[in-house]
Amino acid sequence: MARDYDLKPAPSSEGSSDVNPGSSINRRQFLHYGFNTATGVLAASLGVLGFASILLPPGGSVEGELSVKYWAKGREDTAWYGAKHEQLMTHQDFVDEAAKSNTETSGASGIWNGVPVVVAYVNHSKYANTPLSNGKARFQFTEGVDETGKTIGHFEDLSDTDPRLLPSKNLVMIFARCTHLCCIPGWQLVSNSFTEDSWTPGGGDDGGTKLFCICHSSRFDPTVLEMNTNRNRSNGTTFKYAGVRRAGGPAPVGLPIIPIELNAEGVIEGLVDYLDWYTYCD
Ligand code: FES
Repeated sequence: MARDYDLKPAPSSEGSSDVNPGSSINRRQFLHYGFNTATGVLAASLGVLGFASILLPPGGSVEGELSVKYWAKGREDTAWYGAKHEQLMTHQDFVDEAAKSNTETSGASGIWNGVPVVVAYVNHSKYANTPLSNGKARFQFTEGVDETGKTIGHFEDLSDTDPRLLPSKNLVMIFARCTHLCCIPGWQLVSNSFTEDSWTPGGGDDGGTKLFCICHSSRFDPTVLEMNTNRNRSNGTTFKYAGVRRAGGPAPVGLPIIPIELNAEGVIEGLVDYLDWYTYCD
């Protein structure tokens, strides 16, 4: 039986008359009405990053259309994917870009069914068994803590149950709403010590390759996968999720992972199994 998830109303969801924003939405409705919901999401962050400076066109995905597209309007238009706005994201694009990097990482802003995402590539399969001292990024799987610092569980507690949460072909997709005040973090859209092309192990706040939230400087490490917890803003319930570590700044916890798969053409597609993980923002 399909699960329903509580979502906050989207300001511009008038056209979604058969969805009752603020009550619940199921997987099929999420797919069909994602754009309308996201328009509200993006409007809530106006002026923050390129994502937030426009309203998305009408339309929306239907089931079977789960592809992730680049988003390159605003700061993103000077990034390596700046000419790929609204084009399909492919695995090969990230491999090619990572080959130019000291850390063999790459990342890009995207849009998936109307919600902002960041996709990060880490050459884990090449470097997982090499010395950490070589500075080459690889994924780390670890325990996570809640906002009080209490350990809540290990990433593998979740991935053992659902292996689709593990990186796919060295890629991880991250829900790009900051857990502080819901701005949209980006990957290397600003230049500072947190975004430089360097990497250190352990998920600390040193080293670059962080997702950086420009609003109040929160940092998230896409190479450290852990268990997190957050709260549904609509109904107050708490939930645990697989996420990437909050490395620093005012954000209390990490950002949710959206599981992905690659289609036959190598296009990245998101899976809609964990909608309740995206309910901590208005
Ligand atoms: S909203 Fe991201 S740091 Fe405040």
